[in-house]
Amino acid sequence: MTSLAEMAVQVLTRADGREKTALGRRHAATWFAARAAGTPLPIGTAQPPLRPARPERPELLPPRDVPRRRPGSPLGRTALLHAVAHIELNAVDLHWDIIARFTAHPMPLGFYDDWVKAADDEAKHFNLICDCLEAMGSHYGALPAHAGMWRAAEDTVGDLMGRLAVVPMVLEARGLDVTPGMIEVFRKANDTATVAALEVIYAEEVAHVAYGSKWFNWLCGRAGNDPKEVFHDLVRTYFHGGLKPPFNEEKRAEAGLPPDFYWPLVDGDKDDTAP
Ligand SMILES: [Fe+2]
Ligand SMILES: [Fe+2]
Repeated sequence: MTSLAEMAVQVLTRADGREKTALGRRHAATWFAARAAGTPLPIGTAQPPLRPARPERPELLPPRDVPRRRPGSPLGRTALLHAVAHIELNAVDLHWDIIARFTAHPMPLGFYDDWVKAADDEAKHFNLICDCLEAMGSHYGALPAHAGMWRAAEDTVGDLMGRLAVVPMVLEARGLDVTPGMIEVFRKANDTATVAALEVIYAEEVAHVAYGSKWFNWLCGRAGNDPKEVFHDLVRTYFHGGLKPPFNEEKRAEAGLPPDFYWPLVDGDKDDTAP
């Protein structure tokens, strides 16, 4: 029987985005069917690659070399959606990676339920956004994309709590801050299909942040540590640069992230040129 960790590695080593997400969705269905039948698949062990397989296109460029376009133009909206597709594909791999990477830590099965569900959501998001791009006459791979997206995974390759702090609780929480503005861009352009896709993403991402804070708190509780202190230490260790307000306080609260977790990590002083 194929273990969950082996399934995760199969997804991580598949390069094409549509194929990667189709395989991931089949594996997620298999996992949940076995759970419902009361015969869960073994977690197992496997060797995830340091970096997941990726298609030949998009070309990956350093962030400063990715051309910026104004979101008010059709070209700008295509570029914005292309960047979202890239984020979603990375998110698929990030969630399968956390499943395969840390099997040496004994965790309740609910931990795996949550990340399989999150990976399945991301696969849906990637396909929704690809459909929107194709409806605009573009496709994922048509434009260059950020090369730095996998950095958080590499930086936290040996630290499960660091991974939880940086990926769901910082990066995915940032998604909650910026998505409403993006929805507005497409609403103004009367692109109802893209608005609908982004609304699905916005609603489902709250759960991914919540899974992160749930298991982060659980691990801190098991070790008898103060979650807020541990979170601050880990983000300062692994995340490069401070957090950026404005924060979506309401959705962050819904996801179990209180203000005293993120506000102290804003590094506002550096830009403060007042006498
Ligand atoms: Fe997503
Ligand atoms: Fe997510």
